[in-house]
Order: sequence, then C-alpha cells, then structure tokens
Amino acid sequence: MSKLLIKGGRPLRGETEIKAAKNAVLPILAATLLTEEPCEIHNVPVIADVDNMLKILRSVGSAVEFKEGVISVWNRDATGYNVPTELAKELRSSFFLLGPILARHRRAIVAYPGGCDIGVRPLDIHLKGLSEMGIAIEESHGMIYCDGTRLHGADVALDFPSVGATENLMMAAALAKGRTRIFNAAKEPEIVDLQSFLRALGAKVDGAGGDRIEIEGVEKLHGAVYTPIPDRIVAGTILIAGATCGGEVTVTHVVPDHLDALLFKLNKSSCNLRVNGDRITIRSDSRPRHFDKLETQPYPGFPTDLQSQMMVMMCVSEGTGLIVENIFETRYRIVRELIKMGARITVKDRTAVIRGVRSIEGASVSAGDLRGGAALVIAGLKAEGYTTIDNVSHIDRGYDAIERIFASLGGEISRLR
Ligand code: UD1
Repeated sequence: MSKLLIKGGRPLRGETEIKAAKNAVLPILAATLLTEEPCEIHNVPVIADVDNMLKILRSVGSAVEFKEGVISVWNRDATGYNVPTELAKELRSSFFLLGPILARHRRAIVAYPGGCDIGVRPLDIHLKGLSEMGIAIEESHGMIYCDGTRLHGADVALDFPSVGATENLMMAAALAKGRTRIFNAAKEPEIVDLQSFLRALGAKVDGAGGDRIEIEGVEKLHGAVYTPIPDRIVAGTILIAGATCGGEVTVTHVVPDHLDALLFKLNKSSCNLRVNGDRITIRSDSRPRHFDKLETQPYPGFPTDLQSQMMVMMCVSEGTGLIVENIFETRYRIVRELIKMGARITVKDRTAVIRGVRSIEGASVSAGDLRGGAALVIAGLKAEGYTTIDNVSHIDRGYDAIERIFASLGGEISRLR
C-alpha cells in the first residue's frame, strides 16, 4: 500500500496541462459497446477507474489497447452481457454498461456497483427510466437482471437530474426503436460530451446541456475517433491548491466556462484570476477571504466534486464560512482528518461551519474517498511540517499521479511504496 509524503509550506508555481475528464471518458468507453466497429479515445489519463472500466470491457469480449494516452476499443466480439461482480464492485460507473449492453444484446446482468463510499447511491432513477423504456427488471441477491426484448423509445421524466441515469438512458435510447425524450435531464458538460460522442458514432441525439434530451433510435452505429473534454475537476483541484498555498499556477487545455461556478467563488475570495483562451491562471499572495456560503448543486451550480478541496481552502481563509452539501450526504468524512491538522470545523447534517485559522499543521491522515483524498493533498501542501496520506488508492481512481502534478508545481510531495 503506497502513501504520500508531503512537506508543506511552499507556494506553488508553474503550469499543468489537463487531460480528458474521467467522468467523460467512463461513459464514452461504455458507449463504444453500441458499435461493432473500432473506436479510438484520445488524451486519456492513467487512472484506476479507467483501468477498471477497461477490465470490464475485456470481460465482455472487447479487444482493448491503452497506449500513450490513446485507447483503442474494438467491440466486434463483445458478446458478453454479464458484468462480473468483482469488477462491478470496484467501479460505480460499471452501471453505465447496462444501457449500452441492453441496447446491443437486449439483455444484461449487472451487480450493484461500488465506487466511492460517499453515501447511499441508489439506482432507482436509472431503473425507473429503463423500465419506462420497456426493460423488464428483476433484482435478487445484489444482482440486477434485465430483459430488454421489448426495449423501445419513451418519454422519461427523472425525479432528480442524475448524471449517471441521464447517460445510461441516452445510451439505451441510441439503438432503441422510436423516440426517447428525457425530461429533467442532468446538464453537466460530460453529458454534452457524451452526446457529441454518440453523434460521432452516427446517433441522433439533441438537447444535451438543457433539461430535455431527445434521441431518435437508429438501427446501427459506426466507429469514431474522439477526444473527450478536459477534466474540470482536476483543473479545479489545481486552481484551489494555488489559491490555498499561494504563488501562481496555470492550468492549460481547459474549457473555462465549465469552471464558472468555481471561478466565481475564487474571485470572491480575493484571488487574482486570469482567463486566456483555454488557460486559467490563479495568483494569490495573501490569505484567501471567506465568501458567504458554498452550496453544492447540479451543474451549472457548484460541483460536489470540488467541495472538499474548497473546504481545505476555507480552513485557512480569513473569517468564518459555510458549506451546504446537497448531493452526497457523507462527503464530510474529510472533516475528521482536517481537525487532526488543526482545522476548526463543525458539522450538522448537511452543513459545515468553518472557522478560518492562520495555519494548519502536518499530520498522519487517511483518504476516505477520491475528492476528499485530493483535498488532503492540498491540506498537506499548505500545512506546516510533514503530512502522510494513506489509502492513496482512492486518489489514484481519478488523478493521474497526483504527486507528479504537484511536484511539477514546486510542491514537496512524493510517494512512499
Ligand atoms: C456522477 C459523477 C460524480 C459526481 C456526481 C454528481 C461520474 C462517473 N461520476 O456520479 O463524480 O460526484 O455525478 O455530480 O460521472 N441518485 C438517486 N438515485 C439514482 C441515481 C442517483 O437517488 O438512481 C442520487 C445519488 O444518491 C446522489 C444524486 O442522486 O445523491 C446524484 O447522483 P448522480 O448525479 O447519479 O451521480 P453519479 O452519476 O453517480
């Protein structure tokens, strides 16, 4: 089990190029199952979630190669419709395979998925949507059995704009007979990117980015070469680290619009931001100031995936701040670790009150989930003295060698094996 060792207290300086978004790559890889022709996905980061998705694809018969950032997938022989339980448990996104497998084979068996342990993540919205599209679903002993012989287009209204459910339904609808309309769809940039990829395969999809997506099912799709959007969460993590540790940091190859909600908050906390084409630079030479409140919401609201990182910045900001976490109920596990480092935080239900302190100290802490783990790295880079972080495997799920990213920005961070 590896650990990260960090000696904090240095400002960060330099620039980093952002790779494709994990949350775009995963559904896109699932969507390759919709065609028997070869696909190529470019600029892919080396992260454990992608690795697990490739294992799942191989397990259903895909021919997959991942070399120098390019994934080649050929699903001509991907005849499997049963996602192995041990792989599904490793990756919540294994559930995305349900839509494309059903569309292609008209039957599927998937185990209840795993992923980050950040609260109950039910699948009711996915399953309700699929059953409205004619899928017969049976659940037993942690397995979900789906019969898709009657798969058809339908009007589906989501109770909540779930990202995963929107993506699953878009993929199932791409090859379903007739028209599907998804109401109250999620609007995240990764949904728009999935639409672009499906269109590149020849699918008829429209409306992503708004709250109604329309899909006209087609008989067959073809292969495509595609570069997914850059990772707004990795970019955001680096910008928040710049704001917290001071110095001057630039992220390149980003879509600044995707980070609007974060940039708005960073602006308010007296950081100096410069946006130039696909580059964002943050400069900070004083202690960040607290803004009134940070409340997580579906896109275009503030992303839950950047909440923990912002909490770390707020721990060392001037004044008292408030966070309300509306998406995942147990995303406050990091609080215990931050308190060990000298932070002053109290939590009640979904609300955290953070009283800013001048400095935090290094400690031995543990990553409890992916984004919380990345946030602890920021805390370690800011703290006085040494911090060790264990359970790094959580961080490796979504960051391509996080120690290399921050070491290249002047952070004193290394991995102990
Ligand atoms: C995706 C992202 C994740 C991000 C989240 C919210 C991927 C691979 N992961 O996760 O990084 O944090 O969006 O932006 O893209 N819910 C239900 N029933 C369902 C589905 C969801 O109640 O059937 C609830 C969840 O428990 C959660 C909320 O809806 O409280 C949001 O979940 P959802 O948007 O589905 O997130 P994911 O797709 O799992």
